[in-house]
Amino acid sequence: MLEYYDEVGHKDWTHAETGADVLKAQHPEFENWNQGIHARSGVACADCHMPYQREGAFKISDHHVRSPLLNVNRACQTCHKWSEQELKARAEQIQDRTMQLRNVAMDALVALIADIKAAKAAGAADEQLAAARKAQRHAQFLLDYCEAENSMGFHAPQEVARILGLSIDRSRQGQLSVRPVLIGSGRNAPGRPADGNPWHRERERLESEADADTHPGPPLVHRGLFFLSTVINYIDRQTLSVLAPYLKTEFTWSNADFALIIISFRVAYAVGQTGAGQVLDRVGTRNGLSWASPSTQWPRC
Ligand code: HEC
Ligand code: HEC
Repeated sequence: MLEYYDEVGHKDWTHAETGADVLKAQHPEFENWNQGIHARSGVACADCHMPYQREGAFKISDHHVRSPLLNVNRACQTCHKWSEQELKARAEQIQDRTMQLRNVAMDALVALIADIKAAKAAGAADEQLAAARKAQRHAQFLLDYCEAENSMGFHAPQEVARILGLSIDRSRQGQLSVRPVLIGSGRNAPGRPADGNPWHRERERLESEADADTHPGPPLVHRGLFFLSTVINYIDRQTLSVLAPYLKTEFTWSNADFALIIISFRVAYAVGQTGAGQVLDRVGTRNGLSWASPSTQWPRC
């Protein structure tokens, strides 16, 4: 179908945002059923959608054409000996799986459209967009083929999965084809769109990681100062224990008095270590440390 449309150059409409010539699938129930196990086994539309019923002595077909799942007993159980519940569950499982794959295909197509728009906004020429537009035309038609078909996969589950797989592939190929344009537009180039395209977010993440690699962190001097300011804290505390015998005689402290001093250190630690991180986060490392280092030292001076 797609090959034919490409050959004759047919389009149903032009996508306003990307400029792609796109197609509209027209409820391909017959085409899809044709690829499924029921068609292969000679089960026709009417067997499911217009099952036989008895009116007195007459055997007639139901002309109230509707979802066979509303009438599993006559629509399916003439052939299948499974319970009504089981038949319904099998049909619905096929539909749920199809729906999931259809959503993935839809996301891929939307991502492609966003990329083409971004490339256009970055000033891409028509010939740079040609491959992506063609990919959009194909991906959109393949997806629409499954979407416009009303059985949500039931008429031919495997065929629908195959077509949705092709659609996803075309969308991603299209995205790849505009990649050079998007990268070429540069990080800070004017016209670079600030949109919600997940691919752009991914690229920003990679770029910021690359930036981090080229910035080696604070210089050696700063690291040395951090180290010393921590070490001096510990030396202070140890000094107290070392000097304990002299301090006790000089100030006539009992062991209990000295223990109180040690305990007050511990209490300060407990309070400080619980809250200091949050305070530092709030005021920033630079301000926080400039304030913290002297203020932890002065009481000891
Ligand atoms: C093996 C049974 C079976 C056969 C054969 C079959 N269908 Fe269906 N059809 C279904 C089931 C099951 C659904 C899904 C109904 C639902 O989701 O409620 C469905 C859905 C549909 C729908 C959507 C109806 C709705 O209420 O949502 C249309 C239209 C349709 N089929 C047309 C056809 C046509 C045309 C053919 C033949 C080319 C065909 N079907 C052959 C079982 C069948
Ligand atoms: C006229 C007979 C007939 C009717 C009516 C019919 N089927 Fe079938 N169905 C078949 C045949 C034949 C197969 C192929 C399985 C086989 O050969 O063992 C099949 C296969 C299936 C399968 C397995 C599909 C797969 O890919 O393996 C499911 C599920 C199924 N049918 C559900 C239904 C449901 C639901 C309905 C009613 C909406 C229905 N069938 C109506 C004859 C029928």
